[in-house]
Amino acid sequence: MKILAGNSNLPLARAIAGYLELPLTDASVRRFADEEVFVEIHENVRGEDVFVVQPTSFPANDNLMELLICIDALRRASAKRITAVVPYFGYARQDRKPGPRTPISAKLVANLITEAGADRVLSIDLHAGQIQGFFDIPTDNLYAAPVMAADILARNGARDITVVSPDVGGVVRARALAKRLDNAPLAIVDKRRDKPGSSEVMNIIGDVSGRACIMIDDIVDSGGTLCNAAQALVDGGATSVAAYITHGVLSGGAVARVDGSALTELVITDSILPTEGTKASKVIRVLPIAPLLGEAIRRIADESSVSSLFD
Ligand code: R5P
Repeated sequence: MKILAGNSNLPLARAIAGYLELPLTDASVRRFADEEVFVEIHENVRGEDVFVVQPTSFPANDNLMELLICIDALRRASAKRITAVVPYFGYARQDRKPGPRTPISAKLVANLITEAGADRVLSIDLHAGQIQGFFDIPTDNLYAAPVMAADILARNGARDITVVSPDVGGVVRARALAKRLDNAPLAIVDKRRDKPGSSEVMNIIGDVSGRACIMIDDIVDSGGTLCNAAQALVDGGATSVAAYITHGVLSGGAVARVDGSALTELVITDSILPTEGTKASKVIRVLPIAPLLGEAIRRIADESSVSSLFD
């Protein structure tokens, strides 16, 4: 088994290799003067089971291109099996046509990864589980929920906790976390615009008064969804509001928005390399995801069960 790292999250790739007690594959993934990506693998990979670690986070297009070119280099070097390890799958939110004459970019990206020569894909908390069906190669979608639940239980216990989905689309994810927290009660923030042009109203379905609320979601991008929901929960009488989000995209002024919000804490994983701003935030904490990914990789290589990681 070999682990090859692109440049998008080298610390994560190193941590995965550390978990597996392997060195990273000796390779250079670099740019020509005109910014074209060039990959050179400096060791034999013929017949090897190779895992390419490359979340396709910002800059999404450059990181995607690196992933594709790494896979191409491995295929042409006769690797036996190539697994694209894409903890954060960029373009996942473009998984359907939101209107006429719009693309389904998540499907296009799935086609590109397959065409480049990947034999399998490994990701965490895909924005929609159905994205697995965009691939005709085996796809393992891991869940960060067990890592999050362990952290919540170690810090607070399950007492007085209500798990909250910040939107209606995230209810299944929230229910799964609630189950791991001794079947904690569930609440949902329901955003509604009564008529076009009127401002959005946040309705809370469920009882949050006097409760320590924990929101769960797959992505925090601008932070708008999260910070507005946190305020609605505080207005609804929550004693504290923390959030556990797998992928800290945190674009634009998101870190400042989170820092100035009603959130007591935002916990993300390092599926995306945290920026200096994220690391400096007093509200944001990063949970390492390498042990989960490393264990899944070990099981894929050994051909043992991955799903039993979540029993
Ligand atoms: C949406 O369906 C996702 O699950 C996230 O809630 C969304 O991407 C968060 O975006 P933002 O932080 O920009 O509100």
